[in-house]
Amino acid sequence: MVRRIVVKFGGALITKKDEQCVARVEVIRNLCSAIHSLTNDGVQVIVVHGAGSFGHLKAKRWRLNEGYVAGYNVQGDACSSQFEAVEQVRNDMLNLNAIVVGELEKFGIKVHSHPPHQWARNLGPEFNGTLSRFSSTDPSIVHVSFGDVVDVDGDRRFGILSGDDVVARLSTELPHVESLIFAMGGVDGLLRVPPHEATENDLIEQWSPTVDYVGIHHTEIDVTGGIGLKLNRGYMVAQTGIGVHLVNGEYPSRMLAIVRKEPWRGTSIIP
Ligand code: IPE
Repeated sequence: MVRRIVVKFGGALITKKDEQCVARVEVIRNLCSAIHSLTNDGVQVIVVHGAGSFGHLKAKRWRLNEGYVAGYNVQGDACSSQFEAVEQVRNDMLNLNAIVVGELEKFGIKVHSHPPHQWARNLGPEFNGTLSRFSSTDPSIVHVSFGDVVDVDGDRRFGILSGDDVVARLSTELPHVESLIFAMGGVDGLLRVPPHEATENDLIEQWSPTVDYVGIHHTEIDVTGGIGLKLNRGYMVAQTGIGVHLVNGEYPSRMLAIVRKEPWRGTSIIP
């Protein structure tokens, strides 16, 4: 029997928020160790990672999330046009991807990496691009993809495809996916109050759209959708019968516990 899961490593978990292009390598290593344990259990894992400070800062400065803006320029920046910025963010994302892939390989895992700008176009949960490259179900192979700058049809020309859209399509279109896990940074799941006010009891263990939550979305730095996008895409996936869970990625054993059907701390999205 094939067992398959999709895991999103949030950008805020795997990178340092305020330092451009600095990865939290130890956090990544611990996550990869858990992925290794799952592959040893015979589970096929697909990893999609976010961008954090490898993507959002430059993308925001160059308004890449808005697509092509005629005549737009940023004085005193290392690049001189939006198109150059697109190339630079793609390269920065390839660098972050190389760190994630390298850490997985250190555990002896065979990794197939699929940078979206090479196979995907257009935005949102119905972006174009065939998922056949993710189809092998061999647990010794881990497929990896990420949020990226992709080409967009028409005048817009390019845009930011969030890893949250990538995981939504992977989870609903590939066969055998039993769960989608969002590994987040700094929170145990979805909270009723802002993280700095939260106590143990403020974790929402089961969320559906009627349940109130507090999600801080740093629109000044975040070019995708923050927690709201995760919940929206997570809910879409949960409605197809797949288990969707939000956990604190700083405790990768919680991810293991979900898959091993043991008790864990976090939030499940209920259809
Ligand atoms: C964003 O992807 C991609 C870029 C900014 C290039 P995500 O939406 O998946 O990233 P995080 O998890 O919010 O960092």
